Amino acid sequence: MQIKSAVLREIGAEAPYEKSQPIHIETIELDPPEKGEVLIQIKAASLCHSDLSVINGSRPRPVPMALGHEAAGIVVEIGDDVFDLEVGDHVACVFVPSCGHCGPCREGRPALCEPGAVSNTAGTLLSGGNRLHSGTETINHHLGVSAFSDHAVVSRNSIIKVDKEIPFEKAALFGCAVITGVGAVVNTAAIKLGSTVAVVGLGGVGLSALLGAIAAGASHIVAVDINETKLKQAKELGATEVYNSKNENVIEQIRKATGGGLDYTFETAGAVQALEVAYSITKRGGTTVTTGLPHPDNKFSFPYVSLTAEERTLKGSYVGSCVPSRDIPRYMSLFQQNRLPVDKLITDFITLDEINKGFDLLAKGDSSRIIMKF
Ligand SMILES: NC(=O)c1ccc[n+]([C@@H]2O[C@H](COP(=O)([O-])OP(=O)(O)OC[C@H]3O[C@@H](n4cnc5c(N)ncnc54)[C@H](O)[C@@H]3O)[C@@H](O)[C@H]2O)c1
Ligand SMILES: [Zn+2]
Ligand SMILES: [Zn+2]
Repeated sequence: MQIKSAVLREIGAEAPYEKSQPIHIETIELDPPEKGEVLIQIKAASLCHSDLSVINGSRPRPVPMALGHEAAGIVVEIGDDVFDLEVGDHVACVFVPSCGHCGPCREGRPALCEPGAVSNTAGTLLSGGNRLHSGTETINHHLGVSAFSDHAVVSRNSIIKVDKEIPFEKAALFGCAVITGVGAVVNTAAIKLGSTVAVVGLGGVGLSALLGAIAAGASHIVAVDINETKLKQAKELGATEVYNSKNENVIEQIRKATGGGLDYTFETAGAVQALEVAYSITKRGGTTVTTGLPHPDNKFSFPYVSLTAEERTLKGSYVGSCVPSRDIPRYMSLFQQNRLPVDKLITDFITLDEINKGFDLLAKGDSSRIIMKF
């Protein structure tokens, strides 16, 4: 079938993207679903920093690539060997497909699925196949989803069936920002009731971590960003204190105000400077978790002895260390009970044709989640 899709044709174009237009809205060919795959109609997709990182070259991927991975839609057609979905089901997309059989999958760590990592890096579906073309040219899939399109063929293992009561633009958030941010807090760090927390970088992922920390019973939550609009939003969502890390004394200020730092800190900006702040405001015996995905060349250094003599922990968190089929329904249930109000992350709506402008908005930093509705 023919679909309308947002195709990135060059990496590293200069911002503003509304001027350089690295993403083209094209009519391309989508092949039918093969074994283990599903055709979905995309109803809503949100812009994530990981898309921006492909555009600006921080996370190099093969082009041309149909971008987008945080989305929700409706099942339209089901390939062979998919027995647990029906046409008309509502689904949210997950940005790492998991095979269920490899070492990490067997260990209950689907975020680290080996074939999932290979296919995501190669720009294919989990099967290794490709369903997107423009004439004879192959268009790569983004993270097994390619959600800035009216339709997508995805692996069964890239989608989670969701409650039809949840509006698509809200369901979309759960497949990336929410599982990443909330999962970093409750799975990777597994914070304890009453513990103290800091979140450095308050985009879709960081604000989800903030809401996750509130839901998990943190007693004190420090929110840090370089953007005043984000600090205001974090305060409204329940941060107990906010700090602008453009202020060069921010580390000393937070350490002093918290009596030597916090139990758990989360770096959710994807910037070395943010990780430095997060590590420096973690208290003795505390844990620093990062979800950031900076350029592969970026390095982070810290005082070696602090790890030992202060019994510090530094952890990475990918897809919130989640089991998506277990965790997305749990987080959605909390959302429906108003205990995880992640819909407050939505700040803007755009159309598919406005996508380049949308990424300018995301890069500017005032917006949290920008939603594209179909
Ligand atoms: N680990 C995962 O599984 C996973 C999943 C999704 C996104 N990510 C990554 O997480 C990061 C955040 O994603 P997002 O979509 O929330 O991004 P975003 O662009 O929506 O938000 C980033 C925020 O960080 C702030 N920031 C930038 N530099 C900062 C600094 N030096 N100090 C403090 N704050 C700073 C920005 O002002 C902005 O508010 C990105 O690196 C993204 O690629 C990781
Ligand atoms: Zn994402
Ligand atoms: Zn696997």
